[in-house]
Amino acid sequence: MDWHAFRKRFPLPEDEIFLNTGTLGCAANSVIDKLCQSQRKLAATIANWEYLNDDREWITGYTPEKNLRNRLGRLFGANPSEISLTQNATMGINFIAHGLDWQQGDEIIQTNQEHPGARCPWEVLTERNGIVVRQVHLPIPLNDPAEILNRIESAFTERTKLLAVPHITSGLGTVFPVKELCALARAKGVISLIDGAQVPGHVMLNISDIGADAYSASLHKWLFAPAGNGFLYVQKELVNRIWHTQSSEAWKDPDTGFRLQQRGTGNPSLLHALDAALDIFEETGPQNWCLRVKTLGDILRRGIQEMPELRVKLRFNTSTHPELCAGITTIEFADIPSPKVVRHLWDNCKIRVRDVGEPYGLRISTAAYTQEYEVDKLVTKLGELC
Ligand SMILES: Cc1ncc(COP(=O)(O)O)c(C=O)c1O
Repeated sequence: MDWHAFRKRFPLPEDEIFLNTGTLGCAANSVIDKLCQSQRKLAATIANWEYLNDDREWITGYTPEKNLRNRLGRLFGANPSEISLTQNATMGINFIAHGLDWQQGDEIIQTNQEHPGARCPWEVLTERNGIVVRQVHLPIPLNDPAEILNRIESAFTERTKLLAVPHITSGLGTVFPVKELCALARAKGVISLIDGAQVPGHVMLNISDIGADAYSASLHKWLFAPAGNGFLYVQKELVNRIWHTQSSEAWKDPDTGFRLQQRGTGNPSLLHALDAALDIFEETGPQNWCLRVKTLGDILRRGIQEMPELRVKLRFNTSTHPELCAGITTIEFADIPSPKVVRHLWDNCKIRVRDVGEPYGLRISTAAYTQEYEVDKLVTKLGELC
């Protein structure tokens, strides 16, 4: 695979190093072209549209979008009828949180390292319905996979109704043993909801193999779709217990995935562009792609560990256990505030990393388009700060 040629398919300027895919990925030229061409075509042909029942290409939201859902199901190990198109992971998590019936005192389990999009729906339900969130404290750094399982297992009680944890954490990029966690929840009769915002295009994903009851993902990060693309998976036994947070004419459709994607008028061009992003992912090969992400993360972590002055001055907040880390590396200088490092790297070196705040630090995302020389340059520039 020629990864240098791969990088050239993206409109990232040659002299800029983009290492913040954990927030939002860069869409490829072909994806942007598809988006623009589709918008133009839809606008140019709108007067031809009679608005017949099976002819709603212009507005999406009212059509099941079967091709795209089939494709997502095939790529991520799910039955397409269990996939709903959403805007992002936040939307899918909210659909589950606000779609289930809650009794006062029902408990859910989370960690202390949730993204607000996964934490706040439960805060709302705490105030609205009196549910109880049992928050599991995870240490920083976390280098023992068994510790995640043990700490979470000890939070279950007789009132636990749902386990809501990330597949990959937002701040530190810790890869959770989600298959074991979902099995644990199932054995206790508890619903599992996995926050996969950071997952598609980052590590290999097979939802059926994981055994999650619900899985919510964003496609605009590591998979490089334009912003506003995600999906929600809901297992067929759970779907009938989820009330619609958003409903429209097909809210009782037998296609249960379609039922939950009743979003009214949307932008079909975003979906066409998602299809183009999936073309690149499939053409490259998901295995190749995800191995690339992991390898780049390893090169970065090794580069830092092998530089003596960095070893002394830099703290790894991210895990360095091979099973627990992939394309996100979060570090902190002992004596330089992270926002200052972020500004310095951009102003002086055109390197974009992100400060993810206390208690995490500088988050570096090495994605499929990242180049080895870019990682090396970052390590050198960090070394110069010592
Ligand atoms: C673990 C995690 N969950 C949820 C989100 C929210 O993602 P989105 O804004 O795409 O819904 C993020 C975003 O960074 C995240 O990292």
